[in-house]
Amino acid sequence: MTASAFRTDIVQERRLRTAIPGPKSVAMHQRRQVAVAAGVASTLPVYTADAGGGVIVDIDGNSLIDLGSGIAVTTVGNAAPRVVEAVRNAVEHFTHTCFMVTPYEDYVAVAEKLNQLTPGRHAKRTALFNSGSEAVENAVKIARVATKRTAVVAFDHAYHGRTNLTMALTAKAMPYKKGFGPFAGEVYRMPMSYPFRDVEGMTGKDAAARAISMIEKQIGADDVAAVLIEPVQGEGGFIVPADGFLPALSEWCTANGVVFIADEIQSGFCRTGSWFACDHEGVVPDLVTTAKGIAGGLPLAAVTGRAEIMDAVHPGGLGGTYGGNPIACAAALASIETMEELDLNAAARRIEAQIMPRMKALAAATGRIGEVRGRGGMIALEFTVAGSLEPDAAAASAVAKACHAQGVVILTCGTYGNVIRLLPPLVIGEDLLSEGLDVLEAAVRAL
Ligand SMILES: Cc1ncc(COP(=O)(O)O)c(C=O)c1O
Repeated sequence: MTASAFRTDIVQERRLRTAIPGPKSVAMHQRRQVAVAAGVASTLPVYTADAGGGVIVDIDGNSLIDLGSGIAVTTVGNAAPRVVEAVRNAVEHFTHTCFMVTPYEDYVAVAEKLNQLTPGRHAKRTALFNSGSEAVENAVKIARVATKRTAVVAFDHAYHGRTNLTMALTAKAMPYKKGFGPFAGEVYRMPMSYPFRDVEGMTGKDAAARAISMIEKQIGADDVAAVLIEPVQGEGGFIVPADGFLPALSEWCTANGVVFIADEIQSGFCRTGSWFACDHEGVVPDLVTTAKGIAGGLPLAAVTGRAEIMDAVHPGGLGGTYGGNPIACAAALASIETMEELDLNAAARRIEAQIMPRMKALAAATGRIGEVRGRGGMIALEFTVAGSLEPDAAAASAVAKACHAQGVVILTCGTYGNVIRLLPPLVIGEDLLSEGLDVLEAAVRAL
């Protein structure tokens, strides 16, 4: 363990040398447009040359403040030294054997670590995959085999991926589903707890009772293999369900032999100020899906859960050529070590303490933000037409564009496209984050 946790060779500053995007990025974008499929879009077409800590440096020499972490991935910072060193070591020994052919230790070590860190002290097993979507697909496969049932419950505003089954599980048509059907069957969508938009006074328990009643009437508990939910919804708008919603769903699942799957792909690995978002309410899911923040930017995903459910699948029933690639596993072990050493859960809570009061004051002063919500380093601003719940996607988009022009990488999300989401790398410095928030604040005030 020789590398330091931070990159010290990349200046942590916002630096604008050209307009954003600069001339080299514009030229690269033109080249891209004749080579790359139009369906693959980019939020901010500045082309990356380097990145680390809380900045992304583009090919024009601009240094941008990163408040997106490549969509919640570079939690430990980009090219985190310990991750780079682990990858370098691993790649010098072997790049691939396929765990299903001749296995290796780091896969086992990642499984052990996930079994230890995920909620609950029961016996667990883990299987590794390449992407979040693949993890969700496999969690559903496992739940179906274990229960010998087929129906899967997902929620309004859910996002679980872009493969065929996960498109069916994802709620939003545009851009994720439109034209790509037919979708997988036996997927049922239930209302989410969305405190900002639910009727006044609806508790988490009420919202769970509403969903459970619909599950029982529309599917029947005996036919439900799994209830799948993001404990804090990601793409749907960083929706934090009311207290009591997740525990009530989880208890109903246990009482009815239904597998409760927490999709922690966006919310996991310190993002919300605890290892997993389920930890905030002491919810212990049967299966947990993880990806994104797990490996410092290398592609890795996992399903972790109760040994008896995971082991219900016949040998050879799970896997894939690259699942648990040795380089990605080495990166995951180094990332998790970095999270532990730097206490990135505490860092996420500090980030929340820095962002929340400022953004709440901004919401009160401008009237353009209906709600500021979220946990840890996963904070959302939901833009609404002043004095109403009417989503204001144009405002969110204008604010994001203004931030981009000023060298701050910021993402939008939400079913209505009206949410700005803040997902800084959890190693971002306080001053840099503060400067990013200055830019954001000015953009909101200029609406
Ligand atoms: C909660 C959640 N589940 C699943 C996925 C899909 O992961 P991937 O893009 O790695 O397939 C995402 C990606 O944004 C996600 O946020």
